[in-house]
Amino acid sequence: MKGTPLMTKNINKNVHNTGLSGIRLVSNFIKKPVNEVIQLTVGEIDLPTPFATKQAGIKAIEQDHTKYTDNMGILALRRIITEYAQEIYSEPYNPVTEVLVTVGASEGIDLAIRALVNPGDEVILVSPGYTAYTQAVTLAGGVPVVVDTRSSNFRLLPNQLEEVISEKSKLVILNYPNNPSGVVLSSQELVELANVIKRHDLYVLTDDVYNRLVYDQDFAPSIASVPDMKERTLVLNGLSKSHSMTGWRIGYLLGPECLIHELYKIHQTDVGCASSISQEAAMTALTVDRDNPSEIVPIFRERRDYVLKRLDEIGISYIKPEGTFYVFANIEKFGMTSLDFVKFLIQTVDLAVVHGSAFTEFGEGFIRISYAMDLSILKEALDRFQAAVAKLNNQKSLS
Ligand SMILES: Cc1ncc(COP(=O)(O)O)c(C=O)c1O
Repeated sequence: MKGTPLMTKNINKNVHNTGLSGIRLVSNFIKKPVNEVIQLTVGEIDLPTPFATKQAGIKAIEQDHTKYTDNMGILALRRIITEYAQEIYSEPYNPVTEVLVTVGASEGIDLAIRALVNPGDEVILVSPGYTAYTQAVTLAGGVPVVVDTRSSNFRLLPNQLEEVISEKSKLVILNYPNNPSGVVLSSQELVELANVIKRHDLYVLTDDVYNRLVYDQDFAPSIASVPDMKERTLVLNGLSKSHSMTGWRIGYLLGPECLIHELYKIHQTDVGCASSISQEAAMTALTVDRDNPSEIVPIFRERRDYVLKRLDEIGISYIKPEGTFYVFANIEKFGMTSLDFVKFLIQTVDLAVVHGSAFTEFGEGFIRISYAMDLSILKEALDRFQAAVAKLNNQKSLS
């Protein structure tokens, strides 16, 4: 606990037991002015929100659309989302009852977990994985059960899933394209996982926020498209990544009415509704600027290929990202923890990346490099990285 407690009564134990995001921890090690340190740490695209979408936000303010909206989200937006979802998931969702507009995908993670998890229920998380899942499960009093996928190049296999399922298992959280590995599962792999999930009668939350940022197809397959999965599946998506809209805070959840209705109760209590201005902008993002992801993918492909080429030259191995804007690079050969490696990079060459252990303990031995930066910055960053690696190699050969 930070600070000195002044009261004798304890605060909520689930809150007390929840850690802060490991990604933010990295900034604590940066002692120099931020402009001197290249930070390849954040999960945020450097490009601006598309023009028409921004204009829609401005217009919403000018027209005084600045009041509460329907708690589920503006109906016209929900219609647009369900049309979009039909195209991507080949699954019809009712715009009135089966979609909830949230404050970023982050709120959706919390809603889904809180609505489904009773204290003691086990939630299966895939490692390496996004940090917020563990935190949200702990906050809800659930038990995170982490699947180690290092032996299968970070692809979740049906037998790995089967092995961790117990009587107490309630929910599986999938995130493909995966943060931090960039792995995308095929439709066939998802069908096989769905078979295990159905056999054990589990719920699934599929976090698809990177589904349009993929390099070899238009959008990534999702378990939500597997036949007969709808009744047990909550689909989470949003505009932060696909439309460079992290600050607008728009996400959405799709699922059967019986689940969405329960999530809605929490949403209504917590936030009422997502920002009216952002919702209006989102309508334009998903119509006029619908193809924004396809327009930015070539930029990210160029950056990815550049980073991978440099890592090859430096002698660092990785799993080639098929989606997202992250590379999960293997630093095991340096014989130090990923956190120590990150501290070393910051201290010696003013470069920050995220330690793999921030993505659960099975991410140890790796670092996440975000390439959501201009090529010129990436070039300088990789030069610095190369210098740091040379230093470590020198130290090794001297010892
Ligand atoms: C896998 C994943 N899910 C959800 C989020 C949260 O997105 P949002 O900005 O919409 O809350 C992130 C953000 O980095 C993420 O990487």
